[in-house]
Amino acid sequence: MEPRTPLKPGSTIGILGGGQLGRMLTMAATQLGFDVAVLSPRDWAPDARVAAHAIHARYDDAAALKRLHELSDVITFEFENVPARTLEVLAELGADVAPGPRALACTQDRVDEKRFLNDCGAPTVDFVAIHDASDIGPALGALGGGPALLKTRREGYDGKGQAWVRDPSEAQAAFAAIGSKPAILEAKADFVRELSVIAVRGRDGDVVCYPVGENTHADGILRTTLAPAPGYQDVQAHAEAIARKVVEGLDYVGVLGVELFELADGRLLVNEVAPRVHNTGHWTQDGCLCDQFEQHIRAVAAWPLGPTEARASVRMENLLGPEVDRWPQLAAQANARLHLYGKGEARPGRKMGHVNWVLGDVR
Ligand SMILES: Nc1ncnc2c1ncn2[C@@H]1O[C@H](COP(=O)(O)OP(=O)(O)O)[C@@H](O)[C@H]1O
Ligand SMILES: [Mg+2]
Repeated sequence: MEPRTPLKPGSTIGILGGGQLGRMLTMAATQLGFDVAVLSPRDWAPDARVAAHAIHARYDDAAALKRLHELSDVITFEFENVPARTLEVLAELGADVAPGPRALACTQDRVDEKRFLNDCGAPTVDFVAIHDASDIGPALGALGGGPALLKTRREGYDGKGQAWVRDPSEAQAAFAAIGSKPAILEAKADFVRELSVIAVRGRDGDVVCYPVGENTHADGILRTTLAPAPGYQDVQAHAEAIARKVVEGLDYVGVLGVELFELADGRLLVNEVAPRVHNTGHWTQDGCLCDQFEQHIRAVAAWPLGPTEARASVRMENLLGPEVDRWPQLAAQANARLHLYGKGEARPGRKMGHVNWVLGDVR
């Protein structure tokens, strides 16, 4: 890759998306002396409220994209369901967009993503593409009889758009439950635990990874990350080798989250990758000198990448829905670092904030 001139403080970074990830990216960019311009279709977006420039518009609003390009020296995104076409339009206008449209498009479709992963040597569970309910019975047979997990190809998050299929008789109901959309049927991963590795690739092709974290989910939503994961030394090199194949295969620039299943025999399978800063990387805010948000800004701004080693062990706990009401008790705990997203309504399951419990020296 071509060496690039680092973007000077005082320049403006454009961010597509309107959530907490954009908010934390904006704060990291601001700390490095950048201004941020946020384009979000959401009114009162958590990131737009802390950015120097806020554009409230749809992702296909040509005038708004032109305005974002005029304001920004480089443009990135915090949300993987920004239409890939939006990035192409920005690139056609001459914008410097990172990560690029190809990486975004590949990771937006679970079938394309798994094919890419297998092609670049990152193993996954076995899977079959599903077009309609009648495909499910034969697919279940091909996957060894089930149970298997049916997921929409596109736009699922936090476990939404997923249904288990235990038997061919459940095919119709499962397909209806995910909205009768193009889908993927995945063999069940018999994992002993879920891990993730947060990787970052700079403009010059330099790749670094944070220590692997151990994740727990409930109803498909991340509850906690413990990082570094117990025994991470045994899996770190393996996880990093997988992450490196992914970011190099996508010619990626920025932070990318790799969700992994650890099997009883020690194998690691990739569950999915996210072309953005990742919830399982939030622990780095209080466990590392340079967190994933600063790291992403450094990468897209062509700065040298920062250190990734853990300075402390951290247990990150998501505050979902009304759990955020615990803030007064959490604020009173000396080892609880509170990160709240400034969202309005605390609907059940909605990510309202997180707390990083700083556990002390790395174990
Ligand atoms: N093939 C699978 N086998 C077993 N569990 C799975 C499988 N796929 C997903 N899961 C479980 O569901 C969670 C959410 O699935 P994921 O594919 O990561 O979707 P999302 O995009 O909603 O995060 C995973 O973290 C894991 O706990
Ligand atoms: Mg996931």
